[in-house]
Amino acid sequence: MNKKRNRIVAGNWKMNMTYEDGRDLAMAIIDQLQPSETKVVLCTPYIHLRSVANIVNGISNMFLGAQNCHEAENGAYTGEISAPMLKSVGAHYVILGHSERREFFGETDELLARKVDQALQHGLKPIFCVGEKLEVREAGKHEELVAQQLRNGLFHLKPEQFREVVIAYEPVWAIGTGKTASPEQAQEMHRHIRALVAKKYKQEVADMTSILYGGSCKPSNAVELFSQPDVDGGLIGGASLQAGDFVAIIQSA
Ligand code: PGA
Repeated sequence: MNKKRNRIVAGNWKMNMTYEDGRDLAMAIIDQLQPSETKVVLCTPYIHLRSVANIVNGISNMFLGAQNCHEAENGAYTGEISAPMLKSVGAHYVILGHSERREFFGETDELLARKVDQALQHGLKPIFCVGEKLEVREAGKHEELVAQQLRNGLFHLKPEQFREVVIAYEPVWAIGTGKTASPEQAQEMHRHIRALVAKKYKQEVADMTSILYGGSCKPSNAVELFSQPDVDGGLIGGASLQAGDFVAIIQSA
């Protein structure tokens, strides 16, 4: 992990936690957390945003994030949530392009590029997820696929916009499966991503881009993953639902 870049550990609660449980979890995390330079982002379901904003408000290096937003600013889109709405309840980050959104909600790179634009226009930092399925890795096409996801979803941005983006590499075969990428596999892909960013923008931009690893990250493997030179933290699913595990992962960063 490079000291110049922001170290970030983001919890992705996915579709878990009732209102009460979410409040308890956020408070338990705050109680156990030691002050550090690692930025912590809680990406909650929409119903928790306001209450968790009140809990993390004023705590240094703690931020609120959402897990999706609509590509339009407002309008007749029943059941959807827009970037300015997220901003208005205190969100700083929004996860975009998570593989579950791509897989179960048919989100394409082209749609994601529009969501990224919306988020940035309203002052939200996208945590943009990329990653390959198992068959793609087995066919040796994982680097090509991730390059395509970056090109289509992010590389239309101007350098000053790109600086606001956090990238998360999440191999789909590692998400929620207990099968983590090895530290070498993670490093190899993170190095590849950074090289692509350097080629598109500048080395200096690539050097400042935080690239998180996600996929069955837990206290027992976080230290090794985070010690890789191009791994700048993690996007944590299952283990972010237990305050003790999540705090242990944060402390590994
Ligand atoms: P996991 O999920 O940590 O439960 O594998 C990671 C993610 O999907 O962001």
